[in-house]
Amino acid sequence: MVESLTIRRPDDWHLHFRDGDTMRAVVPHTARQFARAIVMPNLSPPVTTTALAAAYCERIMGAVPEGVSFTPLMTAYLTDNIDAGDLAAGFADGVLTATKLYPAGATTNSAHGVTDIANIAGVLEKMAEIGMPLCVHGEVTHADIDIFDREAVFIERVLQPLVDRLPELKVIFEHITTRQAVEFVDAAGPNIAATITPQHLHINRNAMLVGGIRPHMYCLPVAKREEHRLALRKAATGGSAKYFLGTDSAPHHRGAKESDCGCAGIFNAPYALESYVTVFDEEGALDHFEGFASLNGPAFYGLPVNEGTVTLEKVPVEVPAEVDGGGAAIVPFHAGETLSWRLAS
Ligand code: DOR
Ligand code: ZN
Repeated sequence: MVESLTIRRPDDWHLHFRDGDTMRAVVPHTARQFARAIVMPNLSPPVTTTALAAAYCERIMGAVPEGVSFTPLMTAYLTDNIDAGDLAAGFADGVLTATKLYPAGATTNSAHGVTDIANIAGVLEKMAEIGMPLCVHGEVTHADIDIFDREAVFIERVLQPLVDRLPELKVIFEHITTRQAVEFVDAAGPNIAATITPQHLHINRNAMLVGGIRPHMYCLPVAKREEHRLALRKAATGGSAKYFLGTDSAPHHRGAKESDCGCAGIFNAPYALESYVTVFDEEGALDHFEGFASLNGPAFYGLPVNEGTVTLEKVPVEVPAEVDGGGAAIVPFHAGETLSWRLAS
């Protein structure tokens, strides 16, 4: 008999849909697996107001296949001059679920991000007061800080002081990549949680650099040493309610990745659940998969869990070499590999 696992329908607490043809090509992959997703606002220009988020939400809904139920949870991109009143109104109206802090220059389309967290002190106080969660890209951007150290330094210089100053603020430390991040989240109070991507559970930095430079393994924060991957696997699969699923699926067309200056981002949406469940199986932790994928996120955000279930079966699935990205191909995470679990249709 085929081994199988049935869990409540999961959510993706961090991903990128882009816009236009690419968005229309990638939304169905996420909607096939997840009931809801926290949608990142780093479009060009960024989604900085409630009105822009509402319009973007409409465009995403237009890309959801007929008969599929899927709800985008919208975020607003914080800038030095963001309007706190607009964010609060958007949150009260249910248009916005959270805000997103990109330190300026940290990653794709972050040029309009926050140059110094002191510039948004009032906004963060307001968010703490109304219970609006803050999603954080946790890397410093100073040229003198090595790229492999940027997350650990961010904890020391920005995140710990922020949490000390505003302990009531709900913070999601997104796509964590280091042992230091796990230690920080474990030690922090109940208002601090973290998302973990499939790639940071599967690969260390060798995957990107050994035997040739592999642009499709490059994302930000960049994959770290093996000791960090092992700490992340323990955190994700260990049963703590502070960790939940956030793919950071970030589609870039093949040409934008295979370039003199290749974009950061791994497109993992097509086989995200299969990728994650493989890790939980390898760790002997299938009993913790539902918490990570379907329960911990809603509990932290104060949202109901989803009705309905999905079933995963231990049946091999081949990941294609590329998928349609709306006019150009995108190379997905695990391209050309065989994963040992598949989502039952
Ligand atoms: O690898 C990444 N890609 N990391 C990010 O933070 C942004 C994302 C993107 O938008 O491509
Ligand atoms: Zn992201």
